Amino acid sequence: DARSPDRLRSPIVCILGHVDTGKTKILDKIRKTNVQDGEAGGITQQIGATFFPLDAVKRETSKLALGRALEHNIPALLIIDTPGHESFTNLRSRGSSLCDIAILVVDIMHGLEPQTMESIELLKQRKTPFIVALNKVDRLYDWKAKPMTPVIEALPAQKRHVQDEFKRRLAETKVAFAELGFNSEVYWENDDVRGQVSLVPTSAISGEGIPDLLYLLVSLTQNLMRDRLMWTTHVECTVLEVKMIEGLGTTIDVILTGGTLKEGDTIVVCGLDGAIVTTVRALLTPHPMKEMRVKGQFLRHGSIEAAQGIKISADGLDRAVAGTQLLITEDGGSEEELDLLRDEV
Ligand code: GTP
Ligand code: MG
Ligand code: NA
Repeated sequence: DARSPDRLRSPIVCILGHVDTGKTKILDKIRKTNVQDGEAGGITQQIGATFFPLDAVKRETSKLALGRALEHNIPALLIIDTPGHESFTNLRSRGSSLCDIAILVVDIMHGLEPQTMESIELLKQRKTPFIVALNKVDRLYDWKAKPMTPVIEALPAQKRHVQDEFKRRLAETKVAFAELGFNSEVYWENDDVRGQVSLVPTSAISGEGIPDLLYLLVSLTQNLMRDRLMWTTHVECTVLEVKMIEGLGTTIDVILTGGTLKEGDTIVVCGLDGAIVTTVRALLTPHPMKEMRVKGQFLRHGSIEAAQGIKISADGLDRAVAGTQLLITEDGGSEEELDLLRDEV
């Protein structure tokens, strides 16, 4: 599988953090959707995925001078939402294993909490770079909303006592990160992005800091992760969910992290009773900027390149197993490949 230095795939970003820190709301703000309002108990219970074409990302990043100066080489961002509730450690682990970079969301009013620590542990284990969204800045007493404004403008525009409360909470957060072995700094003062974690104050309600967050994701992935993002033809694909869909039968939701999938491809999926070899009948995605886990219209594609969240329709998927790899094969899978799959179940 030849690598193409001039062609990058879309980076995969995973959002992690303690329950109710605002992970889904941040995505809602970027998507202009209300996914969080529709969640049972306001709690995320599945991994989600949303495709953000670069045009949409650019609209936000160009609100920053730095963002306007940025050359854009990636086609899109694929952002994976995860649950923060303590009972979903397996899904946080799965989400973090798929990503190139993570956004760790911290409620600025609460500081670091148990699933923040757990998320940091997952990121440490995999050496995954991350940035921190210090969310809910609008809850600082007397905060004046500056909707969808870069936080480097919104923060200096606040009253002295608001800025003082921000500084105090920021200092506490930095101490908490230092105790875990991470130097951290607000992103506009971070002159060592490899050595120090960048902190971005955000509000998912009024949108301050959203342009800054997107700018950092684009610039860090393009500038620091070029090798990792170079296009390869090798297919890498993980099954997230096995779902019954009316009219389609049993489908699988997958994240394609490398290569290209095509209608008519022969795929091998782990099943409860051994490998399932089947043919892709349809490759479906939600519309761009729509959450994959929410019921809605699907777009049908003849072929799809990484990175994308995809619903695959095919025969024989009833007993497919989530959390396993999908392989693509011309001859129905070599014995070795099938053995590998069996090991994973
Ligand atoms: P889980 O997925 O269940 O872990 O939660 P989450 O991290 O996705 O948080 P969610 O988006 O569900 O938001 C939790 C609550 O915090 C909701 O009531 C949101 O309206 C609120 N919230 C989220 N972000 C902000 C923010 O920036 N400011 C304020 N004031 N409230 C927020
Ligand atoms: Mg959520
Ligand atoms: Na929630």
